[in-house]
Amino acid sequence: LTVVAHSAEDVAYVSSLLPEIDLITDGELRADVAAIWIECWHESSWERIEDAPKNPGLSRSDRPLYEHVRAVTQEAIAAADVVEARHGVVADRDTLLAAALLHDVSKLVEYRLDESGDAGSSPFGKLVQHAVYAAHKAIEKGLPDEIVHAIVSHTRRSRVPPRTLEALILHYVDYLDTDVLLLAAGQQLDLHKRW
Ligand SMILES: [Fe+2]
Repeated sequence: LTVVAHSAEDVAYVSSLLPEIDLITDGELRADVAAIWIECWHESSWERIEDAPKNPGLSRSDRPLYEHVRAVTQEAIAAADVVEARHGVVADRDTLLAAALLHDVSKLVEYRLDESGDAGSSPFGKLVQHAVYAAHKAIEKGLPDEIVHAIVSHTRRSRVPPRTLEALILHYVDYLDTDVLLLAAGQQLDLHKRW
């Protein structure tokens, strides 16, 4: 396996946008999560990570991708804390943090700016299903199957339902965060269409 060194500058940049990376207790996992963000960013057409949108249908002025990822990560940890306190079921926090931080990282390469300056699907994003590339990166780094599974099953498009507590929490808080944004924007929620 090739070990790719990432500049301290890039690591500091990604950590400043996603400070939740520092909550991961396993140092190797923490470095891998930052490295995957750096690699996907360098492979993408975005000059700055802040420029990548959460949603290609909405303009760049809409919520940036990294802010959605931060919200989902915080929501996942909050949900895990309540689930543990009220049900006595313990979600592995490092697995949950890594999966939440990585679940949408492939959007960096799935979207791009078109000639008119609007964000839309990239040629890659049109051909390869959402989250497949994030899962590929996680596998490439040798991350545990539980993290790969949570990345894959976060979206209902994959047709693989969540089969672990960490994946279940991520799945729901991701849709929660998306639907909160849509509701706040006055958009209709067609929840039944997802199934
Ligand atoms: Fe998401």
